[in-house]
Amino acid sequence: MKQKILTLSISLILLSVAITSWLSVQMNMNSLMQQKESELQNYCELINRAITEDLDHGLTVDYGDYAGEFSAEIDQRVTFVAPDGKVIGDSLLRGSLADMENHGEREEIRGAIENGVGRSSRASATMGNQYLYVAAALMDRGELICVTRVAMEIDRVHLIGDFLVEASLKAAGAGIVIAIILSIVFAGRITRPIRIIVESAEKMARGDYRQHIEVRTGDELQELGETINDMSGKLALAVEEMEKAENIRREFVANVTHELKTPLTSISGFVETLQDGADENPEIRRKFLDIIAVEAARLKRLINDILVISDIESGREVNVDRDVNVREAVEEIVDFLQPQIEAKGISVSMEFAYEIYIGGSRDRFKQMMLNLIENAVKYSDAGGSVRIRVWKAENRIWLEVADDGQGIAPEDLPRIFERFYRVDKSRSQKAGGTGLGLAIVKHIAGLFGGEVKVESALGEGTAFTVILPE
Ligand SMILES: Nc1ncnc2c1ncn2[C@@H]1O[C@H](COP(=O)(O)OP(=O)(O)O)[C@@H](O)[C@H]1O
Ligand SMILES: [Mg+2]
Repeated sequence: MKQKILTLSISLILLSVAITSWLSVQMNMNSLMQQKESELQNYCELINRAITEDLDHGLTVDYGDYAGEFSAEIDQRVTFVAPDGKVIGDSLLRGSLADMENHGEREEIRGAIENGVGRSSRASATMGNQYLYVAAALMDRGELICVTRVAMEIDRVHLIGDFLVEASLKAAGAGIVIAIILSIVFAGRITRPIRIIVESAEKMARGDYRQHIEVRTGDELQELGETINDMSGKLALAVEEMEKAENIRREFVANVTHELKTPLTSISGFVETLQDGADENPEIRRKFLDIIAVEAARLKRLINDILVISDIESGREVNVDRDVNVREAVEEIVDFLQPQIEAKGISVSMEFAYEIYIGGSRDRFKQMMLNLIENAVKYSDAGGSVRIRVWKAENRIWLEVADDGQGIAPEDLPRIFERFYRVDKSRSQKAGGTGLGLAIVKHIAGLFGGEVKVESALGEGTAFTVILPE
């Protein structure tokens, strides 16, 4: 990346420096030529003025001599050409004027005759070298006397031009060095935030999800950095939740294993004892078989509750009954629990404000109410009372199961909905509890789009309320 930016910017710098130096040399050469031209034109005009003055004073002008004199003075070749094109004086070829061809058709001479001033730059037919010529007409009272021409060897202009090229090359070189240093610095500035972003992305790819990219460039890179920050936060959260869920699952599996092992160990222990001869005593045999039966029943309930939980958690769609009659369902449960209710001499009262129907799985609704009513009976003292009320308010259906039993201590209240949590494990076990009942209640209430609330006071009683949407 940095390499590419550097290559690109340095190529651009070199190209633009090359173009500008070429242009500047060209422009300088042009203006140098123009300057030389006007210099030569000045000379022509000066010479013409001098000759005009001499003519005014009635002096005879020897153009050959004049050419030599002026040439010596201005250090350039001076030529005089008569209106007919004949060369009448030349500082270089003083003696052999007669041999010189007619100059009437030379560009600068024609220009001077037609417009007063003419110029041309070409190889001199006489001298061979490249020359810059400027010629000016010498007029006297409207009559063309002659054309004065001054010539300068162009090589001399080029000599100055070379100096110019050298100077501009030096300037360009210095410019290139500075520009390259600047591009290295700026390429670093541009690529550093990209480097930071890439490094964070790589860390995320390696599983280090929570990244914070600090890029303050105020452009798309900053936006990219912020997007990645946002994404990494969400990712880290999702992963945390996944890990939490995984931990809960693992803990549940460990708990299930432990809970299953206890009755199984006790069952196999008593069976072995019986096999070892304990069955000969009918009293002991009776006792052991009873214990085995109780443990087996507990095992069955446990497995049953675990199946219910896994069924609920599987998210499997169950038969949905449009109108579950709440009163009917609750009465069926109370009938089902009648043996326990009678055994403890508990009185159960039921109040149904209306015929209330709810939509959802009838089996699950009954499972939820069974767990609550069973708890109320189980954790009530003999002769206690359980009150079941169902009513509608605030667009919701309220289902309350209250008892006047032992109650739950405030410190236990937040935990009773956890799987396998029991306030008093031995008492729950004696009552045949698995510790899964309220976890199931909470889950089913959630499936119905509702929630469960609990209020309790030690020694006074407990009230569970399921609140469902109408
Ligand atoms: N009505 C209640 N009165 C007093 N304690 C209760 C009542 N309902 C539940 N609990 C307490 O909450 C614990 C968890 O209940 P639950 O999940 O149904 O498990 P369990 O199988 O033990 O009944 C119970 O062990 C008990 O300590
Ligand atoms: Mg229970």
